[in-house]
Order: sequence, then structure tokens, then C-alpha cells
Amino acid sequence: MSEPKLDVREVLLSAEEIREKVDELAGRITRDYRGEKPLLVGILRSAFVFLADLMRRMDLQCEVDFMEVSSYGTGTASSGVVRILKDLQEDITGRHVILVEDIVDSGLTLSYILRTLRQRDPASLEVCALLTKPSRREIEVPVRYLGFEVPDEFVVGYGIDYAGSYRNLPEICVLKPEAYGG
Ligand code: PRP
Ligand code: MG
Repeated sequence: MSEPKLDVREVLLSAEEIREKVDELAGRITRDYRGEKPLLVGILRSAFVFLADLMRRMDLQCEVDFMEVSSYGTGTASSGVVRILKDLQEDITGRHVILVEDIVDSGLTLSYILRTLRQRDPASLEVCALLTKPSRREIEVPVRYLGFEVPDEFVVGYGIDYAGSYRNLPEICVLKPEAYGG
């Protein structure tokens, strides 16, 4: 077993660039939700790193909950099949909800979650996503708070995995082809 960074071909976004963007997004959320107590909903598993950093940069009361859905197997392509593996603990009726995602790819995961949560009558429902890959979009999803656009390459790090590994890389990276088994 090697150190994860030995498998990195290219760093797309450094830890410093990510930190600055997280600060900016947290600042916007702080201003927009002043006087409210939003519920941040992290989409497990990858979003937990982004959520943990984002909430600590917000100068605002907030609560946190999680949902876990599954749409990918161990490969790199979306099957388009979304299943709820873990639902929210909280009742979101009348709450200001912010979905926190690491990446929007086809959009299938978020569009399914948005449809599901809208039926529960939240006071508001917005999306905060660190990354978007617009070239892969199959369904448009409204992302109010967006970090970066990334090219159509399989990215890992800052919570995002390949076959379960590389979530602990502090940067957003592309791996060497041999690391993807190709
Ligand atoms: C990834 C990513 C998003 C979703 C985006 O999660 O974290 O949740 O896929 O893809 P989409 O826009 O095509 O639906 P994944 O299902 O791989 O699971 P994980 O978060 O547990 O790693
Ligand atoms: Mg995910």
C-alpha cells in the first residue's frame, strides 16, 4: 500500500484555493441567512469534508443532518439509479434547508434529493456544491452556492473517492491512469 499522493497525476485545486472558496461561500451563506438557523444537509459520504469546513467558516447558528444515497458502484460512471440508504433524522417542515454536496456530475443524485425533500414542505431549499462538471449534466439542478467548475475528468480528494480510497487527500486531484486500474 502506497501513500495516496504518490498516485496523483495532477492537483486541480490546492488546499489553499479550496479554503479561500469555502470562506467565500460561507460568507455568502452567513449574509443570506442572517437571523435564521438553517439546517445543513450533507450528502454522505463524500460531502462530509466540505460540510465540516463550510460550517466552521459560517458566522451563523445552524444545525446539521445527513442523508446517504447511492448512485455509483465502484466504477467511475453513474448508473443513474438513486437509492436512499440513510434518510434525515430531522423533520424539515418549515425549515430553511441547505443541501451540501461535493460535486454535481449528471445531476441525478441532487435532482432526486431535491424532489424528495420538496415534498416535505421546507421553508426554503437551496444547494451548496463545491464542484460542478457541467459537461456531464443530464438533468439541470439549481445550485445557489457553487465553488468551481471542473473538466470532465474523474477527480478525487477532499472527501471524494475512487473505489473507496483517496478521500483523505487535502486537494482536488486527478490520479495517474494506473491508479484507476487503466
Ligand atoms: C458522488 C458525489 C455526488 C454524486 C454526483 O457520490 O459525491 O453525490 O456522486 O453524481 P451525479 O450528479 O451524477 O448524481 P457517490 O454516489 O459516488 O457516493 P459518495 O458520496 O458516497 O462517495
Ligand atoms: Mg456523493
